[in-house]
Amino acid sequence: MSPPETIPSSKYNNVELVPWDPDSDAHAQRLYEQRVACTWDQDLIDEWKVKVREGNKFFYWIKLSDDLAGKDELLAKHIAKYPTEKEAIVDTATTLANSPRTPTLTTFIPIGHIALDLYPDRNTKFSLPQSTVWIKSLYISRTMQSGGFGRSAMYQIEHLATCPPLNATTMALDTSTKEYQTRPEYLAYHSALSGRKIEAKDFRSNEEWYVRQGYQAIARNERGYTWVDPKTGVEEVIPCVFLKKDIV
Ligand SMILES: CC(C)(COP(=O)(O)OP(=O)(O)OC[C@H]1O[C@@H](n2cnc3c(N)ncnc32)[C@H](O)[C@@H]1OP(=O)(O)O)[C@@H](O)C(=O)NCCC(=O)NCCS
Repeated sequence: MSPPETIPSSKYNNVELVPWDPDSDAHAQRLYEQRVACTWDQDLIDEWKVKVREGNKFFYWIKLSDDLAGKDELLAKHIAKYPTEKEAIVDTATTLANSPRTPTLTTFIPIGHIALDLYPDRNTKFSLPQSTVWIKSLYISRTMQSGGFGRSAMYQIEHLATCPPLNATTMALDTSTKEYQTRPEYLAYHSALSGRKIEAKDFRSNEEWYVRQGYQAIARNERGYTWVDPKTGVEEVIPCVFLKKDIV
């Protein structure tokens, strides 16, 4: 039996998770488009297919719940900004976590994605229990950010992680640091991507966003990532913070 995919919640029910299908060209293409929009890791799709097939990565689309009020308007804004995402894709994944799964074959337009990764070496490095699962590759369409959808996806994925086969007790993740994201240069870049000017006082860094959800910093790496500006091709070294949260 494949792992559960839905966690009931009266509060965090505005999105649903649908497994990404590593054998679908349409799913690969849509993920590529969303990674380009996210500006990170668009070159890792083939690597992720292998990890998902091996059961070392659990990858989910995030879709708006069918009965969400205003769903059509939200999707219209998303498609207006990202026209290559206008076609619905089909729920076709026949496995999840190495277990057979019956796809629903329903169509949907994903508004983002989120993954759980297994990193036993990192667990050892950071003295985390081997029952630690890492959140990776979280992205919500820029037309819907700050709408509560990322928070719901986090709630759902944390609860899925506690279910078999993962039986996680701890979540961990890495993200760029608050210091980096609150620099004027980053705020200007973020404003340009979002298409609206974001003042420092209104800005919420990823690090703060995760801390608000109960994550605590366990380590930092001043040379965490090398990011390539998609417009200029210039490489930049970005500091990262590692955070963890006990979930049981
Ligand atoms: C980071 C990201 C996933 C967050 O998703 P989101 O849908 O924008 O976030 P949400 O709207 O669900 O966040 C809601 C929570 O943040 C709070 N929040 C939202 N905007 C805020 C702001 N400007 N200032 C302070 N808090 C804010 C809300 O109050 C809410 O908190 P609560 O649940 O405790 O009440 C999303 O912005 C994104 O995809 N960013 C680009 C990719 C990225 O950086 N991914 C993370 C890589 S590690």
